Amino acid sequence: MNSSEEYNFNKFSNLPFYTEINAKFLEFAKIDDQKTIVDLGCGTGGITKLLIDRLKNAKETVIYAIDHSKTALKTAANEIEETKNILVKFCHSEVQSLTDVIKDKVDAIVYCNSIHYVPDKSDLLTKIKSKLNNKGILAFNTSFFEGSHPEDSLEFFRKWMLRSLRKVKKEYGISAKKSNKVESRVQLNQEEYKNLLLENGFEINSIKTNRIDVPIEGWHHISGFSDWIEGILPGIPLDIGRDVLQKSLAEIWEELKLNSIPRIWLSVSASPKV
Ligand SMILES: C[S@@+](CC[C@H](N)C(=O)[O-])C[C@H]1O[C@@H](n2cnc3c(N)ncnc32)[C@H](O)[C@@H]1O
Repeated sequence: MNSSEEYNFNKFSNLPFYTEINAKFLEFAKIDDQKTIVDLGCGTGGITKLLIDRLKNAKETVIYAIDHSKTALKTAANEIEETKNILVKFCHSEVQSLTDVIKDKVDAIVYCNSIHYVPDKSDLLTKIKSKLNNKGILAFNTSFFEGSHPEDSLEFFRKWMLRSLRKVKKEYGISAKKSNKVESRVQLNQEEYKNLLLENGFEINSIKTNRIDVPIEGWHHISGFSDWIEGILPGIPLDIGRDVLQKSLAEIWEELKLNSIPRIWLSVSASPKV
């Protein structure tokens, strides 16, 4: 296993609580009988698998699974079993190059927990709109938007981060550095997402937030995902970052006698305005 495989999203993505959030999300967004679907930022294929489950009775359906991580795509290809009536095409690409990768218009673009990575969301929405059929659906969710941290989760986060930073320094003699990569991730609030969609020629089918109780397994496994480690401990080697985050988590969880820590997910379904 190479390092990007070891620190990919797969362990987190396969957790039951995460699968349930996304299964309900696909239901909310009415992704059920579309013939052509893009799974944008597909990662290790967690959502692709859910799509295949939902489309069991489909005939001649194509899912384009797009991600810029070759190793995530490789894991996804291993995770996904072939089905007779659904063809999954893996595309190694930046989401920003969507219009080069997808030639014809599609019925749905599903974009789970990934839109927050893109700095120029307006440009991406224009590209997405140009690839959707008239009644096509853009369905995205994110737990990285302004408003995703409930008040009653803040003490836990503050303690977890401080403990991790101290451990890195005390046990390894190194300090985290500011990261350009992470700072380019623009987090919008619900209203800003709504306005951005309207400004880019979409109409909103539905939009909602959900408070999710994330169990310790969620925080433990997300601490093994490279993007999370780089976000919290920029510049720290991934093995050290994972170790420190997981150890600090276990300590704080015990000290605060926690059962879960809440997080808010934003779910949006929109279509091109006709
Ligand atoms: C948090 S994971 C979510 C994966 C999957 N959608 C899920 O929910 O299980 C985010 C994924 O987005 C991909 N990603 C981030 N920025 C990207 C970009 N600009 N182009 C393509 N993929 C990108 C990452 O490689 C990663 O696999």
